[in-house]
Amino acid sequence: MTLGDAPPAVRNPIPANAGQAWVERLAASECPALTTRRKRRAELTGANHDPIVWVEAQGSNVVDADGNRYVDLTSGFGVAFIGHRHPIVVEAVKEQADVLLHALGDLYPSSVKIELLERLCALSPWPQARAMLSLSGGDAVTAALKTAVMATGRPGVVAFEGGYHGLSYGPLAVSGFAERFRAPFARQLNSHVCFAQWPHADDVDRALRSLPDDWSEIGALIVEPVQGRAGVRVPPPGFLQELGKRCKQHGALLIADEIFTGLGRCGAWWRSVEDELNPDVICVGKALGGGLPVSACIAGEEVMRAWGDPDREAIHTATFYGDPLGAAAALATLDVIEKEGLVALSDERGAAFARSLERASLRGVSEIRHAGMMLGLRLEAELGALWVTRALLERGYLVLPAGEHGDVVQLVPPVTLSQPRFDDFVSVLERVLETTS
Ligand SMILES: Cc1ncc(COP(=O)(O)O)c(C=O)c1O
Repeated sequence: MTLGDAPPAVRNPIPANAGQAWVERLAASECPALTTRRKRRAELTGANHDPIVWVEAQGSNVVDADGNRYVDLTSGFGVAFIGHRHPIVVEAVKEQADVLLHALGDLYPSSVKIELLERLCALSPWPQARAMLSLSGGDAVTAALKTAVMATGRPGVVAFEGGYHGLSYGPLAVSGFAERFRAPFARQLNSHVCFAQWPHADDVDRALRSLPDDWSEIGALIVEPVQGRAGVRVPPPGFLQELGKRCKQHGALLIADEIFTGLGRCGAWWRSVEDELNPDVICVGKALGGGLPVSACIAGEEVMRAWGDPDREAIHTATFYGDPLGAAAALATLDVIEKEGLVALSDERGAAFARSLERASLRGVSEIRHAGMMLGLRLEAELGALWVTRALLERGYLVLPAGEHGDVVQLVPPVTLSQPRFDDFVSVLERVLETTS
């Protein structure tokens, strides 16, 4: 089957026999809560919510177990910014697999890990930078939060309502997206966290009053330059700059969570730098590994010196951090982004895609949002994005619902998705919205 920038080809029911068999095996082996979630969605929307099961992907195409071909406007949660299974990344991973799969992390590192550290430092906004590698976005956020504690000695964090930073304990404590994620674990989370309203810099002072201490106990402020999961919420000009000023004034570290927005997704290498946030720490993940799990926390050398001079083992590390395969994939991905000019392309193409959406007749859409290749359609109906997502899936397009109330359709396609292919999508979307809203 031709894959890359091909149109959808849904020839079999979703799911058909092969897909259905996988779904049954999944239901019998994964955590039951996930199967229950699909049943609940089905009850809510009156439509089947069984997943498709991916077996192959390339460029912006995905193929399921039943042989249907889709156009992926999710990039697999924002990972496939340069497209799925980019040949240069695949080649780099194969070459690395032939010589070294695993090394001794922070003790005896691989040469390719060192190359990636150098590359990330050179890409950072600081003339002298240092980086810590990890696997998931949540890992990078954890490293950033710990760096802030080491640098300031203060436990407090200012975060934002709607902010999403991952679900492991450190990141969850600072994630203001959907209280339901936090509620069962609330008693185990850092209690020195307050949430300001998005996007209001003035609200930071109000939020601080919910803590026993004021700025004196705040070690960090964490912010996504554009809130992704909360529904592509782009802040007004000047907001990030104002936050930056406040943090500097009070000696708190500014953490820019660029896990979704960075590396070109929002039309700049670092959206936070573009918007003059002036961060002290940058977290990066998702697109970095070109499909493999690689993330990093990067900061200026002075900030990273706060980790001190341990005479024994490193106090923040993990078995697989900086693994050779991931490092090789990340180096190849950065090469592709640089050599193919994908940051500028994302800016141009994202703007052109937004114009196509603005010209279309999109019933039930109250707002079109975009920052580079991160686009969002705000719907008038709460949970409306669940219906739209399923209806589009059945027509061969993968999109994700976003926003705390399921009212945003998130479009984060690979930057390689062509304009004609996007225009096809917009025509299908017009028809879907006619029937679902
Ligand atoms: C802005 C942001 N930060 C952190 C994360 C967490 O990344 P991961 O799921 O890889 O832990 C995400 C994931 O969606 C994200 O969008």
